[in-house]
This record gives sequence, C-alpha cells and structure tokens, in this order.
Amino acid sequence: MPTPHISAETGQVAPLVLMPGDPRRAEKIAKDFLDDAALVSDVRGIQCFTGTYDGTPMSVMASGMGLPSLSIYATELYSVYGVERIVRVGTCGALLEEVQVRDVVIASAAHTNSSVPSLLVPYATVALAPSPYLLRAAMNAAETHEGLRWHVGPVYASDHFYGGDPATTQKLIALGTKAVEMEAAGLYAVALAQGKEALTVLTVSDHLTSESPELTSAEREDCYRSMVAIAASALRS
Ligand code: HPA
Repeated sequence: MPTPHISAETGQVAPLVLMPGDPRRAEKIAKDFLDDAALVSDVRGIQCFTGTYDGTPMSVMASGMGLPSLSIYATELYSVYGVERIVRVGTCGALLEEVQVRDVVIASAAHTNSSVPSLLVPYATVALAPSPYLLRAAMNAAETHEGLRWHVGPVYASDHFYGGDPATTQKLIALGTKAVEMEAAGLYAVALAQGKEALTVLTVSDHLTSESPELTSAEREDCYRSMVAIAASALRS
C-alpha cells in the first residue's frame, strides 16, 4: 500500500535498502550495481529502484537532505514496506587531520544538534548507534579493499550546512568526531524506534579543518564504488 511519500506497492521494495542522499545518485547506484533494476516509486523525484545485487534482492532509494527528510522515508520503509536494513551511503566533511578527502568513514555513532532524535525518550540522551552486525560486516568488508583508507568512529549529523558554531565544532573534534554530515543520527534514531537495523558509510568530499586537494572525477568514482561495495556487503551479511 503506498504511503504519503512512497508510491511503490508493498512487496516492491526489498528488505535491504541502500540510501544515498541525492536522487540522481540513487539512479546511478541502481545502474552501476543492480541487475534488473525497476523504478518502483517516484514521489517528489525521490526515486526508488529495486533489483538484485549479486543475486540478492536490494533497493536503492534517496533520503533527500537532513534528518527530517531521511526520517520520513526511513520510517515509511521500515514500518510499511517491511524493510529490515537500511545503509546510508553519502558524503561528509572531514573534521580530523587524519581523515583525508577520498577516505571512507563508517559511522559507529552519531552526535547531533537536531531535535529529531530527542523525541525518542524525553529528558534522556539516547545513544545513537548503528546495528553492531552491520557495523562488523562493513568493517570486515572495508579491510578487503586493498589500498583503501578507511576510518570507523563517531560522526556529527548537523542541521546546519551553513553557519554552524565554530566552538561546537572544536569541542566535537576534541571528542574524536571524524566528520560532519546531515543524516546519520536520524537514520539511527528511526531504526531504534522501529526495532530495525541501520548503518552509515560515507566518503569524504571535503575537509573542514585543513587544505584538501581537488578530486578528479576518476578519483571520485573510485571512492564512491568502494563505499557502495562496503555498504552492500554489510546489507547482505
Ligand atoms: N557539512 C555537512 N554535510 C556535509 C559536508 C559538510 O561540510 N560535506 C559533505 N556533507
């Protein structure tokens, strides 16, 4: 049964979902990684494709930007479409010196300034973490990618792309926060609320605290492929 934001019929979405932020990226992932991909939803230009990844049924659907957008799609996928696992694949801005442009960051926790997760348990700080099983599988998969620089640790899911407080960023850096993006904490909160599994795997597109080289399109393509392969491996584990 379609939902307010997804027009697929029940059964047209696979239990395993790759979730980029950008709808065009969803289409590209479907084209590059899925066999027999079919468009099953296209509400507001947020396309959902379902096909198979190495024989395993898998869907790709974008989240849009920010926790509120992602949390709408994730909630409907988990609660109406029987989705069991969502792995977000996206970009992030590096915060730590040791994290470089093109590296992969696996989010083992998500800090946030968003009010979305605060609704889970009023007056308590809920720990926003991925499924340990997906996390372990992603780390195992990352290890098999020869030459890939990858990190695992907390990320900051911010509601502000522009105008964030520099003192907040410094404190998060002091806590070992690897990178900033805008969705991971929403995904982890929704998965917790729904009793389902989630993980976030990112590539570093820019560096917030040091000079970074411009990426060639071939370099971008390279790290994008590693990120999706790691995410799909975790989904299938
Ligand atoms: N801020 C938030 N999200 C991001 C960034 C950033 O600098 N880079 C990539 N995603």
